[in-house]
Amino acid sequence: MHTSKILVVGSFVQDLTFATRSFPRPGETIVGTFSTGPGGKGSNQAVAARRAGSEVTFIGAVGKDEFAHSVRDFYRNEGIESPLAEYPDSPTGTAAILFDETGQNEIVVALGANEKLDPTDIPDDQIATASIVVCQLECNLQAVTSVLQRAKDHEVTRILNPAPLREECTAELLREADILIPNETEFIGLLSKFHGIELDEAELPKLSPEKFNEYCRKLDCPTVLITLGKHGVHLSTPESWERIAAVENVQVVDTTGAGDSFVGAFAAGLQRYNGNLKKAATFANRAAAISVTRKGTAPAMPTLDEIELVAHSS
Ligand code: RIB
Repeated sequence: MHTSKILVVGSFVQDLTFATRSFPRPGETIVGTFSTGPGGKGSNQAVAARRAGSEVTFIGAVGKDEFAHSVRDFYRNEGIESPLAEYPDSPTGTAAILFDETGQNEIVVALGANEKLDPTDIPDDQIATASIVVCQLECNLQAVTSVLQRAKDHEVTRILNPAPLREECTAELLREADILIPNETEFIGLLSKFHGIELDEAELPKLSPEKFNEYCRKLDCPTVLITLGKHGVHLSTPESWERIAAVENVQVVDTTGAGDSFVGAFAAGLQRYNGNLKKAATFANRAAAISVTRKGTAPAMPTLDEIELVAHSS
């Protein structure tokens, strides 16, 4: 029996973030400022979906260390059910994040306990009672594959954000998704890895939307949404495609987690608009536009009221 619940399976990561004027060159040391907070693509997407108005369960894996200490309180405060797996011999995931004064970021993530997440950590009834499952590639990929396969058996809509795009990701895994949401870097990476098509990031905005859509169709997934930052979102289905413009006049502070904001809010939007892809993507665009005006990842996710305010002012 499906409920209106969204199940997010993925990573919890403690973000260790450095704000700098510019990125250091190899061998260079520069001075910046530090902050830390809850992150991880899976966890961020769960927070985004919850704040955007959905009932959310998040399943991930943590260690038994300082970084895992307050994680359960964090989800309780967010109103997210979180039956987390604990792997005492592994460190909780961590990420070193740099973001510069233009708001761009560079990230190295150490998966730690996320890599231990096991298919058995995700009980079948959690999948069967969801209406949507959302996964990424920032945890154990066997667990991701298992969740997506079981979700298909239960006729639950499967969203996959192929991030970070990892060597171990297979074409078979990608085929398990109903809706694939890569950003432009991951899109280029997928085309190169699975189709031998080499595109440059600077080339993407110059492609005609028709040509761009041809590349989307190569990804072998019914619905594809490519998030393109200030160029908006390209929505591609077997029947049609559409470009959804980005929100204008956004004061960008920190783009870290903007993709997570989009994915989580998109899942919430699908529920809110009864599966209408365009409405859900527009809703998610607004959420992401708010998140980039704030520092941090999970803490930057907007509430439903805030997203609706953008709708009324644009
Ligand atoms: O997408 C942003 C996230 O990626 C950060 O929170 C960081 O944890 C990395 O995993």
